[in-house]
Amino acid sequence: MDKSSFDFGMIGLGVMGRNFLLNMADHGFSVAGMNRSAGKVEMLKKEADPEVKVDGTTDLEEFVQSLKAPRCIMLLVKAGEAVDDMIEKLLPLTEDGDIIIDGGNSHFTDTRRRIAYLEGQNRHFMGMGVSGGEEGARRGPSIMPGGDKKAWERVKPMLEAVSAKVDGTPCVSYLGKDAAGHYVKMVHNGIEYAIMQMISETYLLMKRGLGLNNDELYEVYKEWNEGVLKSFLVEITRDIFLQEDDKTDHRLIDVILDKAGAKGTGKWTSQDAMDLHFPVPSIDISVSMRDLSSYKDLQRKAAKLYDTQDTVIEGDKDAFIKKLHDALYFGVLMCYAQGMGMLRKASADLDMDIPLSEVVKIWRGGCIIRSVLLDTYWKIYNRDPEMSNLLLSEEVAPMVRENVGSTRDVIATASKAGYAIPGLSSALSYFDAFRRDKSPVNLIQAQRDYFGSHTYERIDEEGSFHTEWDGSAK
Ligand code: 6PG
Repeated sequence: MDKSSFDFGMIGLGVMGRNFLLNMADHGFSVAGMNRSAGKVEMLKKEADPEVKVDGTTDLEEFVQSLKAPRCIMLLVKAGEAVDDMIEKLLPLTEDGDIIIDGGNSHFTDTRRRIAYLEGQNRHFMGMGVSGGEEGARRGPSIMPGGDKKAWERVKPMLEAVSAKVDGTPCVSYLGKDAAGHYVKMVHNGIEYAIMQMISETYLLMKRGLGLNNDELYEVYKEWNEGVLKSFLVEITRDIFLQEDDKTDHRLIDVILDKAGAKGTGKWTSQDAMDLHFPVPSIDISVSMRDLSSYKDLQRKAAKLYDTQDTVIEGDKDAFIKKLHDALYFGVLMCYAQGMGMLRKASADLDMDIPLSEVVKIWRGGCIIRSVLLDTYWKIYNRDPEMSNLLLSEEVAPMVRENVGSTRDVIATASKAGYAIPGLSSALSYFDAFRRDKSPVNLIQAQRDYFGSHTYERIDEEGSFHTEWDGSAK
């Protein structure tokens, strides 16, 4: 490979890494790839357009030397130890001022540690979320960089060129200090988990409760994707119902085992929300439901023990489908409210200065949770960058009010029929708890003080109080 001649280098040439590089090359940048496997390097070269400048190697030293200084090296390797190992290998080969970008789904605490470590070594390090899957990486992902601002200025033109565009605006922005990029990506994935859970609940009710077949399901999601629910996740859901299985004569969806995998980012969102003391119940339940789905043996035993016949949901099918649409919309509003609220809290508590308007701006295209709703959120955060909870926005409140009635009806019907829809139910409970200024936790405080002298506050006097509880009435 020619020395000092490539603009950008990628370590890790899985599909995401290769596609990201090919995307850069299509935008006129000269790019180099490195992978231990010669097969992957060959694939990169083969997939590249002959007109563009793309090369690759299995030799790390040759790869580093092929890059123009200061070097821009992106890692798309497995999150965890592999990132640390690669950083150690790169240190003796790189120079002061070189930039290392971790584009994987790393835990933000790892990113914080690496930033501090590499600062001491005079290397710039950025944690950067990349969303959009394999297709997104190839055609334009949503990119979430954070951390070292000097590094950002250097890579900005390249990232802007390759990112998705919405009305010509690139879906990449500097998202804050420290590990902000990876933090924002983590919360993006939390929202992704919650919306996927809710969509799957609408599928459950339409398939089991209403008996819709796959063609009918396709039509419903198709229609939903033409209105306020227009989004990438509804769009792919629509298409999933048409996919044929190439091993049987069934549709593929009907031969996929109902056991969900998870790489961990949804769980991290819930874990960190707990640490922040910020409630994101719709995300929590979506993680729990994926976990529950892995206990297939227990579920099979339980199905024999309890009556699990599909109950038909009686009445006007179309009217119920319309209610499901509204309930999903309501649920999605709650997912974003929880996720964005969490980002605001994390930004303050972890001192990351995350610009919320930029976050929703760059989520409008390229990423998995892109939806028309984000245009509205962008306007809201532009007007009020410190909006504490989207549910308090004058613009969101009417959308919530219009759809809450259908949500209650759907939950009541599902509950009577014995179908679990915990995503939508948690969204409604979150809303009902959030909107009231009186909750029952005065009783919890009384109980805590009763058995543990934990004290309580009063509504009529400042301070903290303890009572010797003896249950006596006057
Ligand atoms: C994206 C996705 C992606 C996600 C993986 C694994 O934004 O492109 O969120 O980054 O992490 O598809 O997701 P699971 O956690 O569901 O395995």
